Amino acid sequence: MKTILITGATDGIGKALAQNYHKQDERLVLIGRRPLAQLNDPIFTPNTYCQADLNLPDCADRITSFLTQHNIDSIDIAIQNAGVGYYGPIAEQSSDSIQNTLTVNLIAPLKLSQALYLHLKKTQGKLVFIGSIAHALPAPDYAVYAASKTAINAFAQNLRIEWQNEIAVQTIHPGPTRTGMHKKIGMDQKQTDWTKFPAPEIVAQQIIRIIKSKHPVSTIGTGNAIATFAGKYMAGTIDTLMRMGRK
Ligand SMILES: NC(=O)c1ccc[n+]([C@@H]2O[C@H](COP(=O)([O-])OP(=O)(O)OC[C@H]3O[C@@H](n4cnc5c(N)ncnc54)[C@H](OP(=O)(O)O)[C@@H]3O)[C@@H](O)[C@H]2O)c1
Repeated sequence: MKTILITGATDGIGKALAQNYHKQDERLVLIGRRPLAQLNDPIFTPNTYCQADLNLPDCADRITSFLTQHNIDSIDIAIQNAGVGYYGPIAEQSSDSIQNTLTVNLIAPLKLSQALYLHLKKTQGKLVFIGSIAHALPAPDYAVYAASKTAINAFAQNLRIEWQNEIAVQTIHPGPTRTGMHKKIGMDQKQTDWTKFPAPEIVAQQIIRIIKSKHPVSTIGTGNAIATFAGKYMAGTIDTLMRMGRK
């Protein structure tokens, strides 16, 4: 039985990952900001669920205290999945929202990586970051979110070398997925036909397959992989196309 820690396990891709690993009888450590009493799926119990708001400075300490209280001194896979964003012009984004996005998507994962080092080293385990194709493509109206995903991608790239003989570090970039995130961040649900994007359960299955592999960096979906490639190697053309699309 593996011990698997997942942040952002109360909704979307993280919850689908947790449900999938639960079916495989793995030992789960599920992190979320909601109180346990509000979670009605049986995967969430006092033994599996750690309430920790990743926007708060003590989040990594809360998580390591939970591990100590439950005699968990080793972790096989830690998936840093929790994420937030803001959709709209940067000029209208509040400083609280900027702070929240950078803290949950970047600062908390950096602190948690550090805090989980010994737990992961013990199993020669795997640290997984859920990024976004926004790290490689222009994401107007999503600028702070994209900056956080670009930074976490760079962090993982460096950690992969620093921890090469101790812990495997993987970055997995999903593209648009049919979760509640878009509504939470203020995107008009009528503007986009979300039925054309995959459900979180499908994306979670792909993530689990990638975690079993040794690929250091993966993008989910062929179309997203092509877009990411174009974003990196044809940046000028992509920028021009995006500017024309917004006229
Ligand atoms: N959906 C997409 O189109 C898409 C595309 C590319 C990448 N991604 C990435 O995939 C990951 C999962 O996103 P998702 O679409 O599944 O979003 P989601 O359905 O909104 O789930 C996000 C999870 O993160 C949790 N979370 C947010 N703020 C938190 C905080 N302060 N402390 C603790 N937990 C917090 C949420 O808790 P609550 O349940 O309390 O909100 C939820 O469990 C994110 O990193 C996201 O950037 C998503």
